[in-house]
Amino acid sequence: MSVFVGRKEEGRAVLLSARAGRGVVLSAPPGYGKSALLEELRPALEAWSVVLWTEKLAPFGAFLRDLFRAMWDARIPVEGVDFSKDPEKDLQAWGKRYSSNEEKAKSLVRALRRYAESGVNRATLVVDDATGVTGSMVPWLVALSEVATLVLAVHPETLRKANTKRLWMRLDRVDLPPLSPRETRELAEALVERYGVVAEDREAYLARVVSLSGGIPGEVERLIRYVSAEDIVRNRDIGTGYAEGLARREERGIALAPILLVAGGVAIAARYLGLARGEMDLYVAGGIGVAAFVVLSPWLRKAVVVR
Ligand SMILES: Nc1ncnc2c1ncn2[C@@H]1O[C@H](COP(=O)(O)OP(=O)(O)OP(=O)(O)O)[C@@H](O)[C@H]1O
Ligand SMILES: [Mg+2]
Repeated sequence: MSVFVGRKEEGRAVLLSARAGRGVVLSAPPGYGKSALLEELRPALEAWSVVLWTEKLAPFGAFLRDLFRAMWDARIPVEGVDFSKDPEKDLQAWGKRYSSNEEKAKSLVRALRRYAESGVNRATLVVDDATGVTGSMVPWLVALSEVATLVLAVHPETLRKANTKRLWMRLDRVDLPPLSPRETRELAEALVERYGVVAEDREAYLARVVSLSGGIPGEVERLIRYVSAEDIVRNRDIGTGYAEGLARREERGIALAPILLVAGGVAIAARYLGLARGEMDLYVAGGIGVAAFVVLSPWLRKAVVVR
């Protein structure tokens, strides 16, 4: 990757934790650049210890195979499986010897423990996408966290998944916010160069990309690569990116909130006025208004938001 902007502080935090032997959970929504940051940090992690790189946690069987392969590449021996020249053959031998996921996981934990006790820095285990974690994987990840330094990338909701707290408790947490406007601009300029985007009004184009993206690097990339410059400047059919949807929802939600509030207030006031003046009709109408407000306002809000 030729362009990488920002993330100095977050990168430093990940490296500090990993070097202290503490695991890290890197948390951010899709497109914020978790994978990009980990890739950027890879050489620094590798300079510190063996790095076992895996794609994702689920399905767990596939993760265990990934991990076995990474350990094979790093020449970390698993009991009962000799190194041949062919990793596929050794993978099969391992699968035969340890039939269930449980036994497989146990064999890898044991191998990593032996490796950690051999006097070198313990291995760093990176999972590029750990959002698929489930409660049943947690005991194994906790066991792995005791014999290796875990670096897991997840979406923020993953941290609230049932029965996973015990895992996150053991890890330092690093959050990735959106890029600053300056960094977003820097990224946009670099990508415009890279993809050879030609815009009539370059300045207007860049400013629009920066504001539409909301500082989310994946959005910057999507807008520059897949949406025509003309459409962006004219604000036409630019798709439904994550940031854009969010911004629009917020705009509408905020615009509607005071109207709903005033309508609800009027109904309540009418009810009290009716009561005070002994005007039954006004009292009943106010009551109906309040009821309608309570029942309808969530729908009304949604209807406007969805449009
Ligand atoms: N700091 C950055 N500098 C330059 N490009 C970046 C940066 N962060 C992310 N990108 C680019 O933005 C795109 C999305 O980033 P990435 O895939 O790393 O997001 P992610 O957080 O891992 O998303 P997901 O949760 O979907 O895996 C990628 O093309 C990546 O190269
Ligand atoms: Mg990713």
